Amino acid sequence: MVQCCAEYFLNLLESRKGFLMTNVLSVDNRVLLLCRFAIAAFLAVVSVADAGDGALVVVGGGPIPDQIIDRFVELGGGNGTRLVVIPTASSDNGLPTADSTIQLWSSRGVTHAIQLHTRDRSQADNEDFVNPLRNATAVWISGGQQSRLADAYVGTKVQAELVKLRNRGGVIGGTSAGAAILSGVMIVGGNPVPKIGRGLDLIPGIIVDQHFLRRSRVNRLLEAVGRHPDRMGIGIDESTAIIVQGDRAKVVGDSYVTVITKPDDRPQSMQTLRRDDAIQLPGVTRKSPKKWAIAVHGGAGTVPADASSAEEKAWRDGLQIAMRKAVAIIESGGTSMGAVDATIRILEDNEMFNAGKGAVFNSAGSHELDASVMDGRTLDGGAVAGVSTVRNPIGLARLVMNRTSHVLLSGSGAEQFATEQDVERVKNNYFSTERRRESWNRVRAHEDGAPVSRIRSARPWQYGTVGCVVLDTHGNLAAGTSTGGLTNKKFGRVGDSPILGAGTYADNDTCAVSATGTGEQFIRHAVGAQISLLMRHRRWTLKQSAEYVLKQRLNKGDGGVIAVDRDGNIEWVYTSPGMFRAAADSDGRFDVLIRDEN
Ligand code: GLY
Repeated sequence: MVQCCAEYFLNLLESRKGFLMTNVLSVDNRVLLLCRFAIAAFLAVVSVADAGDGALVVVGGGPIPDQIIDRFVELGGGNGTRLVVIPTASSDNGLPTADSTIQLWSSRGVTHAIQLHTRDRSQADNEDFVNPLRNATAVWISGGQQSRLADAYVGTKVQAELVKLRNRGGVIGGTSAGAAILSGVMIVGGNPVPKIGRGLDLIPGIIVDQHFLRRSRVNRLLEAVGRHPDRMGIGIDESTAIIVQGDRAKVVGDSYVTVITKPDDRPQSMQTLRRDDAIQLPGVTRKSPKKWAIAVHGGAGTVPADASSAEEKAWRDGLQIAMRKAVAIIESGGTSMGAVDATIRILEDNEMFNAGKGAVFNSAGSHELDASVMDGRTLDGGAVAGVSTVRNPIGLARLVMNRTSHVLLSGSGAEQFATEQDVERVKNNYFSTERRRESWNRVRAHEDGAPVSRIRSARPWQYGTVGCVVLDTHGNLAAGTSTGGLTNKKFGRVGDSPILGAGTYADNDTCAVSATGTGEQFIRHAVGAQISLLMRHRRWTLKQSAEYVLKQRLNKGDGGVIAVDRDGNIEWVYTSPGMFRAAADSDGRFDVLIRDEN
């Protein structure tokens, strides 16, 4: 079939020799050979523009196969996708199209979807109007007439926000007119003589055509690239898409994609691609790997003098395993939020740390757990407080963020939400360990059961808490924290770990922070938010900001923070005797420290 298509196109080229004059290659038997082998060489050209870190899902119209739909949702963040649907190409003034499109995506688990529509360019330049795009992880542009999209949005703030969305790792998808508009030089209509207009220019160096084989559009695409010899033509048939990531495009779906190389590249060629074929695109800069940085903590405190070497090894190994997981996720292009979640789960399952299994006892002799996550892209967050049967509270916190319109659920409400979400449950005594019981007994025998933070001789496993902060290769920051709280805390007591702005904070403009120590102090001083605000408003560095808050605002011994800024600088500042901590980054750093060492 691929061969047939190639031959069909070659015949077509031959029949058009006179029409396209110098732009069309001369066709003879050698060209067929060239069509098969030369294209890779032509496509590896010097590039001129930056296509960002996100993805494009460019669909040729017609019924959209599941494979394409699922890939779009996956690239948008799965169940956490925050989708904006742009229905402006349709003739019905948007609403019915947006409704049916939103229904399609919600049947695929995308629960957060809204429409953005106007035909008024001044509205498309309005800050409030474009605001949903700033929080989005995905945009879907539905079909109709591409001129409606161009008239409303080209050259406006909507276009600028779409570029930013892609640069911060989001996905933009479009079908039919929604695919055409992604080109800079855009085919508006006409066949075989195309009418050319201006599109959103999200695929530098490419002219996209759609419904390509079904509507016999080869001639018009040849004509379009003939008039714009610095562009490559990509004709996408119905039920088929290209997924563009960086400088590569991969074919998904049921039919074919036709690639016409730039007339500027001689000899020019045409190639037919099918599912799983990939090409390198022109007009796209191959980006060098981007900076990433990760810090993890296992709580304020240090190795006690009487700790065995086995205990010391267990703390060190625990941090190392968690950090390795985070590094593996980020190095393979995963998100900061995914890394935070996976890393903290590992620490929750490790009884050496005061979170999940191994959490401290409260004054009632049971365990109440707190956790939170925050996404620096959107300032969105999720938290749970006082949960007692959820094996991994960090996962439930993430679900609060992704599947509710709230930020913090507590106690029995959080437990009920866990039931609804079908997350793994355990009996409360799953969290108990002999080590923690011993500390609880010791604390109760001491100072009338005062919470352990006030006891100078507290051992590290009496406070603990775990956390993770990440800058990923897409430039996104995220933070998460999970804890059993303070030994012998009053039942119902909530610390700083599930309070966004106190124990956990992330803002892509500044930094991501996770705290450990006496929670009440971190809440009083809004530690995470305060560090971020000093960076934003005083233009202080992360180090200056964190040191000021920990050393000038809090009391000595209150605890510490790990933090990473948007440039990948990692800091840890603590006034406790020590902090269990680890750091890794794209420059090859990999440190695991459990003593007061550098
Ligand atoms: N920093 C943990 C807590 O106070 O609960």
